[in-house]
Amino acid sequence: MHVAMIGTGYVGLVSGACFSEFGANVVCVDKDEKKIEMLENGVMPIYEPGLDDLVENNVKGGRLTFTTDLASAVKDASAVFIAVGTPTRRGDGHADLSYVYAAAKEIAENMNGYTVVITKSTVPVGTGDEVERIIRETRPDAEFDVVSNPEFLREGSAIADFMHPDRVVLGTASERAQKVMKDLYRPLSLIETPILFTSRTSSELIKYAGNTFLATKITFINEIADLCEKVGADVHHVAKGIGLDGRIGKKFLHAGPGYGGSCFPKDTLALVHTARDNGAPLRIVEAVVDINDKRKKSMANRIINACGGSVIDKTVAVLGVTFKPNTDDMRDAPSLDIIPALIDSGASVRAFDPEGMDEAKDMLPGVDWCEDAYSTMQDADVLVIITEWNAFRGLDLERVKGLLKQPLMVDLRNIYEPSEMAAQGFVYHCIGRQEV
Ligand code: UGA
Repeated sequence: MHVAMIGTGYVGLVSGACFSEFGANVVCVDKDEKKIEMLENGVMPIYEPGLDDLVENNVKGGRLTFTTDLASAVKDASAVFIAVGTPTRRGDGHADLSYVYAAAKEIAENMNGYTVVITKSTVPVGTGDEVERIIRETRPDAEFDVVSNPEFLREGSAIADFMHPDRVVLGTASERAQKVMKDLYRPLSLIETPILFTSRTSSELIKYAGNTFLATKITFINEIADLCEKVGADVHHVAKGIGLDGRIGKKFLHAGPGYGGSCFPKDTLALVHTARDNGAPLRIVEAVVDINDKRKKSMANRIINACGGSVIDKTVAVLGVTFKPNTDDMRDAPSLDIIPALIDSGASVRAFDPEGMDEAKDMLPGVDWCEDAYSTMQDADVLVIITEWNAFRGLDLERVKGLLKQPLMVDLRNIYEPSEMAAQGFVYHCIGRQEV
């Protein structure tokens, strides 16, 4: 099957490479010439573990190509995915769909024979109807169907998520389109992945409801962690104790500095707006958005308090700035709230991140970027862990103590054991666990 993937951002590139691994002939299209040139030279524009090998193998196998020429890619394709960006529109918090609609128009102008047009970008309820209307208006003669097929990929484990998903959701009532989609996902049916056909509207809502539920779960455990601190309970034990109940589930119950990334902040906000616009406000989600924003902002105070109430003329060593490990993505990362607040409060900040520093440099002016974890700590007054990269989980604590001015650590990801840190002589502050 010939597939055109419009947009080589995170979702488009990973999905395109994975479909080619499934055996489809995939052309990935982007307007950004520099990006296409990089990809043609085997250079990945994003950091995602395993993606470079996957792309290389499929390019070599002749199943994956890159182009800026949308017309030629669409002409031969029986399935065309729209995977362009849907940023939050400035001013009103709605998703900006101008790229999606522009792609729909261009696809319509170039499609040839029966074509299934699939929205993979995260798009609000009703977008599929508008895409269909645009295509119909542009090409009244065309034979096509518009399908919603949301992605559930996590950055850092996107390839595994694509190859072994919990489910595939396909929103379409058309049997002809269902057949094309079944063919495309056949390798997943063979491993008995649940493939759920729904209406297009339900499929669009599933994506937002899923992300919003996960963001709510995280926010819930974050507030429980705050309560644990007040009453002397341990959020790890509470999370385990509730998570073992199959109805609750143990995933996404790690307390931390608040969720970030390119999806949860944007999608929760977009759903809040959709719900208000439709007269069915989601009050729980509105609270989640507000609590999470405030939480990220409040984290700097935790660090300042751990330093005795002031960081004036103090050096703060920060490990990890990306919104989560195994990505170079800085979008809505808690570090973007925490580090500027520390600098504004008079601290000097030294920082290290295994993959995110190039991306972070412009976003975090005034930071002294270091070469590795240990050089970051040299003569610092406090060590702060913002992102839980594996490389930070097994630090040589004796060495850390020798480098810091005092054995003080603020761990916003709970990657160390309070009792062990105390035994090692650290003053250790974490989230929702007994501080020693
Ligand atoms: C999220 C969803 O997990 C994916 O299923 C979805 O496809 C994707 O959004 C998307 O819509 O494209 P992602 O943003 O890559 O994936 O990252 P997550 O692993 O979900 O983490 C999001 C944020 O929540 C991070 O800041 C992370 O640190 C935080 N988090 C996650 C917690 O604070 N605690 C947890 O227990 C889990």
